[in-house]
Formats: sequence, C-alpha cells, structure tokens
Amino acid sequence: MENFSMVNPVKIIFGKDTIAQIANEIPQGSKVLMTYGGGSIKKNGVYDQAVNALKGFEFHEFSGIEPNPHYETCMKAVALIKEKGIDFILAVGGGSVLDATKFIAAATCFQDGDPWLILAKGAKVKKALPFGDIITLPATGSEMNSGGVITRAETQEKLAFSSPLTFPKFSVLDPTTTYSMPVRQIGNGVVDAFVHVMEQYLTYNEGDSLLQDYMAEGIVKTLVAEGPKALKDPTDYDVRSNLMWASTWALNGWIACGVPEDWATHMIGHEITAFFGLDHAQTLAIVLPGVMTVLKEQKSKKIQRLGKEVFGIEGADAIAKTIKAVELFFEEMGVKTHLSDYGLGDEAIDKVVNRLAERGWKLGECHNIAPEVIREILTIRK
Ligand code: NZQ
Ligand code: ZN
Repeated sequence: MENFSMVNPVKIIFGKDTIAQIANEIPQGSKVLMTYGGGSIKKNGVYDQAVNALKGFEFHEFSGIEPNPHYETCMKAVALIKEKGIDFILAVGGGSVLDATKFIAAATCFQDGDPWLILAKGAKVKKALPFGDIITLPATGSEMNSGGVITRAETQEKLAFSSPLTFPKFSVLDPTTTYSMPVRQIGNGVVDAFVHVMEQYLTYNEGDSLLQDYMAEGIVKTLVAEGPKALKDPTDYDVRSNLMWASTWALNGWIACGVPEDWATHMIGHEITAFFGLDHAQTLAIVLPGVMTVLKEQKSKKIQRLGKEVFGIEGADAIAKTIKAVELFFEEMGVKTHLSDYGLGDEAIDKVVNRLAERGWKLGECHNIAPEVIREILTIRK
C-alpha cells in the first residue's frame, strides 16, 4: 500500500425528513444565498422544505445553474454575493449545483486575478465562503468531496479543481428527494458512481490494498444490485437509500487511500461533454469499456477480480466477458455505450484527440495513455 494522508470533514445528515435540520447547521445570523438549478426542486417539494428551514435567516436565491455548470453563470452568482453581502451558501440540487457552488465559494474570495485561473492553471484557493448542501441526485459524490468541474461555454473547456477549503460544511442526503429523478438521470447516476469506483480500483495493482478493494467491490455490488430496481420502482426507499449512500462512498476519498488512480475515462469524457454536450455519464459509458479493452494487460488482475467478485465470471475469456458485462450493465441502466448512439464518429474522435494532445496530458495510472492510445480507445467505441 502506498503512503497516504486522509481527512474528510463533511457532516452527513442522512434520511427522510432531515432537510429541516439545516437550520441548526448554518451559523445563526448568516446571510444565506440558496443556489439551485433549472427548477426540479420546485416540482418535488425540496424548494419548499429548504425555504421553510431558512425562515430564521435573511436569504436570497440564485437559480438557473445548468447541468455541466458554466463559469459564466457562476460569475453572476459571485456578483450577487458581493452585492448582498452573503456569508453562507446553501446548494440545493444535483452535482452541477454543488460543483458550481464550490467554485462560486472560492471565486468570491479569489484575489489573484481572474478566478478562471483556479481551473485553467490550478491557482491555489486560499479562502472560500462556507457552504452546505441538500443533494437531490446521487452520482457525483460532490456532497462528500472537495472537487468541482466547471465548463467555460465560450471556449468549450470543461476543467476540474479541488481544494481543502471547498468541502461542504454539511450535506443532507434525503433519499426521498430522488424519487422525482427522470429515468435518464437514474441511469446516469449509477453509471457515474460505478465509473468513480473503477477509476480508483481498476488499475495495475492487486492484493496490496485489500480493504480498499473489498470496499470498492461492496460499492459496485450495491450499484449493480440496486440500480435496475430503482428503474422499476422509483419510490422504493431502501433501494434509493442504498444507491445514495453508495454514490457518496464512490468518491469521498476513502477507497482512494493508498492506491494508484486512473481517471483517464473521466478526462476523455470531459472533452466529449465540452465539445458535444453529452451527459457526463453517457461519456463514461462510452469510454470505460474502451479503456478496459486497450489497457487489458496492464489491468488484467483487477479486471478478473471485478469479473469474479461482482459479476460471477471466471474461467476462459474472463477478461473479455467482464468487459462485456460492464457494457451490458450500462445498457441495462439505459445509458448507451457507443459514440454512434449519440450521432458521433471520426470527426468527434479527431477533435477530442487533438484537444488532449494540445494539453499534453499522459493519462491513466501509469501515464501511458497518450493521444494515439486515446484514438485507439475511442475508435473501438464507434
Ligand atoms: O437543474 P434542475 O432543474 O435541478 O434539474 C437537474 C438537471 O436537469 C435534474 N435533477 C437533479 N435532481 C433531480 C433532478 N430532476 C428531478 N428530480 C431530482 N431529484 O437532473 C439534471 C442533471 O443534474 P446534474 O446536477 O447536472 O447531474 P449530476 O449530479 O450527474 O452532475 C453532473 C455534473 O457533476 C460533474 C459532472 O462533470 C457534471 O458537470 N462531476 C462532479 C464530480 C465531483 N464534484 O466530484 C465528479 C464527477 O465525476 C463529475 O465529473
Ligand atoms: Zn464522474
């Protein structure tokens, strides 16, 4: 096992009817900005619950945060925060609202030039406003990590940042808020969480970080068992609870302790979203089977372990069968797995490969996924 240090300060408040508890978590006397997206929270009652809980506070609202949140939108919120003298942010929504809020919290306090530098150049976040959240879409793990992904619409760039100062102070996880998710987002959420685990588990190593491996397999088994049930019965509380908690665990830092991490699927996927607007999870469902296929020798032990532990596959052709099982699971969750399913082909591959070549990144846990390997990965996913 590699050396590691670990801290996760997020207070989790889990369960039905817990939204009212935010009143005890936000410091008394705070001027609060509630951030949210396109209005799903007004249809499913979450907005009303949040507003009720904020009764004792002066609060303002900022809505219209789009999926794959835009830098341009975030900067409008920063202006509002400065105008109103806001000192606490409450994010209510999916990963996009949470990520945008993290960036807004950091950008408001940024004094070293354009806050875009946090994303483009990894400029250090030295201060951020405190924030908490009510997460309504289990997928990203944003509710229990310090990362965010922001898109600059003007230049079609989608970039990630993280800082020890952008952990939420608290996150409310009420599984009943997820009952209203559209079918497409149920599938997306399960696929995203599945791939988060793969980025931290499906690497060259095997056997020297046993606890993390068991934990990773536990998360993935939960997603595989409960995901299809959520599609059939969207209001099964136990199913929704299991999916919500598994998604949080998929990216809260614990299974990354002491292990190599890949993240090539995500980095390639972000470029596909930036150029062509596919949902985050759709890009992952396309790319992961390609990464597994092209890197199958490097990752052979872990692919076999995944096949055995999660899908019950052993014996001849176990690696190929496991890659197929992953692809079929994504399809079962309603997420298509080929570029052509989304109307993309060779031109799209060129664009993504050229962009990643410009960035000069060598992806993957061994830094051996260069542009020509990315082309190979995408070409077999046509
Ligand atoms: O905007 P509203 O009206 O709220 O509707 C949203 C949105 O249209 C809707 N929705 C959310 N909760 C709902 C609901 N509709 C009905 N009922 C509910 N309970 O779902 C749509 C998608 O929401 P979004 O927040 O975009 O989805 P998700 O949570 O999948 O977030 C995706 C973003 O997170 C980033 C992705 O790149 C993408 O930008 N990621 C963030 C990560 C992190 N912070 O650690 C890691 C991930 O790998 C990922 O990159
Ligand atoms: Zn993801």
